[in-house]
Amino acid sequence: MSLNISWSVLDTQMMSRAIQLARKGFYTTRPNPSVGCVIVKDNQIVGEGYHQKAGEPHAEVHALRMAGEHARGATAYVTLEPCSHYGRTPPCALALINIGVKRVVVAVEDPNPQVAGRGIQMLRDAGIEVDVGLHRDEAYALNLGFMKRMESGLPRVTVKLAASLDGKTALSNGVSKWITGPESRRDVQRLRLRSCALVTGIETILADDPSLNVRYQELGGIKDSITEAQLLQPLRVILDSRARLPLSAACLAIVSPILLVSTVAYPAEFQAQLPSHVSCLVLPAIAGRVSLPELLSYLGQSCNHVLVEAGATLAGAFLAQGLADELVLYQAMKILGGQGRNLLQLPDYQTMAQIPALMLVDERKLGPDTRLILSVKPDTSLSKSNWSKITV
Ligand SMILES: NC(=O)c1ccc[n+]([C@@H]2O[C@H](COP(=O)([O-])OP(=O)(O)OC[C@H]3O[C@@H](n4cnc5c(N)ncnc54)[C@H](OP(=O)(O)O)[C@@H]3O)[C@@H](O)[C@H]2O)c1
Repeated sequence: MSLNISWSVLDTQMMSRAIQLARKGFYTTRPNPSVGCVIVKDNQIVGEGYHQKAGEPHAEVHALRMAGEHARGATAYVTLEPCSHYGRTPPCALALINIGVKRVVVAVEDPNPQVAGRGIQMLRDAGIEVDVGLHRDEAYALNLGFMKRMESGLPRVTVKLAASLDGKTALSNGVSKWITGPESRRDVQRLRLRSCALVTGIETILADDPSLNVRYQELGGIKDSITEAQLLQPLRVILDSRARLPLSAACLAIVSPILLVSTVAYPAEFQAQLPSHVSCLVLPAIAGRVSLPELLSYLGQSCNHVLVEAGATLAGAFLAQGLADELVLYQAMKILGGQGRNLLQLPDYQTMAQIPALMLVDERKLGPDTRLILSVKPDTSLSKSNWSKITV
């Protein structure tokens, strides 16, 4: 930890630069973490890089390649502990040792059980000075989903909601287009892009027939940082306990992965007609519906961050069962009236102590709307003053 280390101005500046680099990979590295690295020799940056895509070189490798021989005797600033294991690429700790860096500054330890301090130990065993904890919270906040999955095996869950000022999502007849403005809808595209999976309920599919994909043209400013070829579509997950999805659903026609989750198997003839990008999963039921804890355990095998974009029933179930980490609420300056549809279906709580505890993390204007980010389970790994930094 950073408690006993007094960081120099150069240290602080260089780690800020490494975090800036890590951000460049924010939308393209999943399920890997976003990591940046800067190599400094004689107060000059001689190499820098960031992890761009899973399976491709890690940040340290890009930075070391750029630095070449200048890396000998240099200081490396890395936003995440260098890896110590052979994955799809060799250990970065070994690369730093082999080139002969003198000092490594690490923002945050990697909780991946395959690393978990071993990268730092490997460097120290090789006689390299290692300092840990500079800009820790910023580096941690860049990878909240990855950190949670590595620490618990579960993905981070964001529930997205759009509502009027009086908390209604649609008129009584179901008309909801459009409560919020184009800026909010663009921001939802960004939320989808940062997510490994997008979960919805069968009633939303039956009512709206959405495609549930990320549309490059609607990404606004993000288009400047990623190309259309780099765009990663989230896994679209449809919870359909009783296997009611029609083959005509629009989402099936879009060629990117879909997972249909039910508690009874879809008929064989239905499955035979599904396109190859669609797979089916049967999970146990709780009260007749897909078990959400089982679903999250399953998704936690490969997903860092899950976005729930559903109606009051499923969104409410995630919140009521204590499975949501964060709510993102787009609030339109409109009043739909008492007959409108409610935001969340929750149990009939009898005391204030029973209602979910929310903490406002960020509030900003998006065109005519207000976007609220609410933390359901404040992340105890971040100090209070840094909660706002999780709004990446
Ligand atoms: N304002 C917004 O942000 C927003 C976002 C999305 C949708 N919507 C609107 O929401 C409306 C649909 O809302 P809705 O509440 O009827 O449906 P929903 O929440 O989209 O889907 C609910 C259905 O999901 C299935 N499900 C499977 N496992 C579940 C579980 N563990 N817990 C809860 N549900 C589970 C259930 O059907 P089975 O029992 O058959 O599995 C359930 O009826 C649409 O009109 C849509 O326009 C609004």
